[in-house]
Amino acid sequence: MKKIAVLMGGKSSERAVSLNSGKNVAEALASLGTYEVVPIDLTEENLDTLPDGVDAAYIALHGGWGENGGVQAALNARKIPYTGPGVKASQIAMDKLKTKLVLEMKNVPTAKWDLAHPDTAKSPLPLPVVVKPPCDGSSVGISKVSSEADWPKALAAAYACQAAERPVLVEEFVPGREFTVAVVDGEAWPVIEIVAKGGWYGYEEKYTSEETRYPFLADSADSADRALEAKLQKLAVEAYEAVGCRGVTRVDFRVSPLGRCYVLELNTSPGFTSHSLVPKAGMRTGLTFAQVCDRILHSAAIDR
Ligand SMILES: Nc1ncnc2c1ncn2[C@@H]1O[C@H](COP(=O)(O)OP(=O)(O)O)[C@@H](O)[C@H]1O
Ligand SMILES: [Mg+2]
Repeated sequence: MKKIAVLMGGKSSERAVSLNSGKNVAEALASLGTYEVVPIDLTEENLDTLPDGVDAAYIALHGGWGENGGVQAALNARKIPYTGPGVKASQIAMDKLKTKLVLEMKNVPTAKWDLAHPDTAKSPLPLPVVVKPPCDGSSVGISKVSSEADWPKALAAAYACQAAERPVLVEEFVPGREFTVAVVDGEAWPVIEIVAKGGWYGYEEKYTSEETRYPFLADSADSADRALEAKLQKLAVEAYEAVGCRGVTRVDFRVSPLGRCYVLELNTSPGFTSHSLVPKAGMRTGLTFAQVCDRILHSAAIDR
């Protein structure tokens, strides 16, 4: 019987969500009856609690060391295959600035952008814009700036999350719709639309609002959405390949009213709670939650 370590918890701000993801994954894999599943609350400091003889690690850590290449490097060193992208792709995806540079280099469309510093007096791009710290998740420190008067507050909010020495990202605000596409082993799963109240998918809309809806684009009554589904799936795979991902990654998009698609970001360790979007997309392909986890476990690898 293969021994699978499910890595969860950690020390990032996303610890609580990660414990939830990890618990679900561990239960699902155990239910298959073919694995010995060992759940581990893992941090940089307790790497020695990784048991001997682990055949593969399922990474259910979100944010920080669990998603930025840290745990991936530690598992490479121990020659334990793990789910999700390797060190380099994890490092790129964790930094929205690096992600944008790589996507632009490979001609994958992203919103226009510029940089700001703590003393930048006004937006370097025409308003409206979105100001974000490049290395955070969960919409923390992100704000939309619609008038010059909002600029100082948005800049301060972004810098409340990161060091003054580093620039923050300023992005053209893309009006319109929002979508997410799971890519597993280079194959895009069904596209999910994110319909958030007010068109903004912030922290509250992600974790507390009951009003955010996640319909499948394939269920849209608008026939033009068939072509949009194919286009988003193609772009998601292009973004995944541009960043050098493997295994599972979720690619987030905004689509303007004219139908222009822009990659917002890549999530290399997406959520696995019962209502998370990657399992939802996988289940749409006909798999059960446990089979989705198994599918992703089979993509586990180490960097070569
Ligand atoms: N350029 C943009 N145009 C419009 N909305 C945006 C833009 N950037 C971010 N948003 C909104 O903010 C949310 C969070 O931004 P995102 O870049 O995905 O960061 P996070 O890593 O925190 O999820 C998005 O889901 C979207 O609703
Ligand atoms: Mg996002």
